[in-house]
Amino acid sequence: MIFQPFDINGVTFKNRILRSSIGGKTSFYDGTVGPAWRHFETRFAQAGVAALISPTVSVHDRRFSPLQYPKISQDRFIAPIREGVQAVQAHGCRYILQLGDPGYHTQMSLLPEAIDHHGPSDGFDLVFGYGNRVKAMAEDEIQQVVASFAAGARRAREAGCDGVEVTASKGYLLHQFLNPATNRRKDRYGGSVDGRFTLLAEVVQAIRSEVGRDYLFGIRLSAADFNYLPLNLRLPLSLPLGQYFRGNGLPETLHYGRRLAELGVDYLHITAGFGFINPKESPGEWPVDEFRLYANSIRHLSGKAHVRAMLLNALPRPLTKALFGWRWRFVPMANADYARQFRAHTGLPIIANGGFQRRSEIESALAGGQCDLVAMARPLLANPGLVQRFQQGHDAPERPCTHCNRCSVATGVLPLGCYDRSRFASQEAMEAQIMWWSGGPSYPGAAP
Ligand SMILES: Cc1cc2nc3c(=O)[nH]c(=O)nc-3n(C[C@H](O)[C@H](O)[C@H](O)COP(=O)(O)O)c2cc1C
Repeated sequence: MIFQPFDINGVTFKNRILRSSIGGKTSFYDGTVGPAWRHFETRFAQAGVAALISPTVSVHDRRFSPLQYPKISQDRFIAPIREGVQAVQAHGCRYILQLGDPGYHTQMSLLPEAIDHHGPSDGFDLVFGYGNRVKAMAEDEIQQVVASFAAGARRAREAGCDGVEVTASKGYLLHQFLNPATNRRKDRYGGSVDGRFTLLAEVVQAIRSEVGRDYLFGIRLSAADFNYLPLNLRLPLSLPLGQYFRGNGLPETLHYGRRLAELGVDYLHITAGFGFINPKESPGEWPVDEFRLYANSIRHLSGKAHVRAMLLNALPRPLTKALFGWRWRFVPMANADYARQFRAHTGLPIIANGGFQRRSEIESALAGGQCDLVAMARPLLANPGLVQRFQQGHDAPERPCTHCNRCSVATGVLPLGCYDRSRFASQEAMEAQIMWWSGGPSYPGAAP
């Protein structure tokens, strides 16, 4: 089934494999996409995936995460995106632009900014964001968020993208509003399972009325939050404690899925966990060195970021790994069963993400009705030619992705690419592949 086309709202996908969002420092400092982004995205399109889901592109003009990630918060960002989208589409590959707002999970800023710490409720979060304290958004600020998503979707359409996807996962702003531990509001944006959905519902309605019914529009949704993973300290504790530690589980998210279907969303992209990165969305190892690298690169921004970096530097490696790497392990097709439940309960086309790499596994998920499409990130970064390899009848790449997650965390600081030295014959070979991703067309290095 992998190579059977599939249609959603008038958009045909030539096969069932999508490249999942891969964000990196591929833009200029103001958020305008640059040549590195265009090269990077085009290389996946050349390699035969049916569609690319873009990195999370920020709809907010000040909050972007991290620096040099793309933005779509002003009309001037449209033309450079259009150029890259056309280059992707020239290879028969669709381009879905993922819209997001990191809220208080904003990880990096040129200079510390109060706006980077705004979220649903006042509080503290040790692991995510750099702000010492989270500050609750006022209602007019929430209305601006709704308008910024609608404007972002209009701009994506004007840039020629085949569709838009809104991230209500990843622990980003919309997810912060859905999650009972981070949304303790008592107004209409909180207070109950449905109250916490209000912001997402308003965003969906605003986008639909902006882009029309005939435009492809999906939501990336976390099937279960697992708030206790990765290990974190969030204050204040809220009652009931079970809900605080768990976050939303399937009963709540399936309800959200049904409501999204009623609101006219075209598909759901199912993942799990809360926050980037977390072991449910990116199953595999917890990369100590890359976390240290990342924490150190932002330690100047706040007292919290400084203490976090100090902790990571000072603790012995095994202790760090035991604490922060608790319950990190690779699970193949980690969210396929969640995807099946969403498919059954909502009747919507479902994209499953997390831990796919083998052709046989993808085939079984498709044939077993667990999902309609599969999105992959790390395996394609490790082996860009994976789809062609499947076409040749192979089940797996010669040197598979090891799910070490170095790429997932290094991305905030270093160029995009696979950083698992054990997969390459030499350090030079690894660097050549990294440079190939974003180097110019004439880069002489290792085309995989
Ligand atoms: C380098 C890198 C950057 C990523 N950037 C984003 C992003 O911008 N937005 C997003 O929603 N997910 C992002 N992800 C998560 C992936 O889309 C995907 O959910 C995750 O890697 C699990 O899928 P996989 O097992 O196929 O890798 C990123 C992953 C990696 C490896």
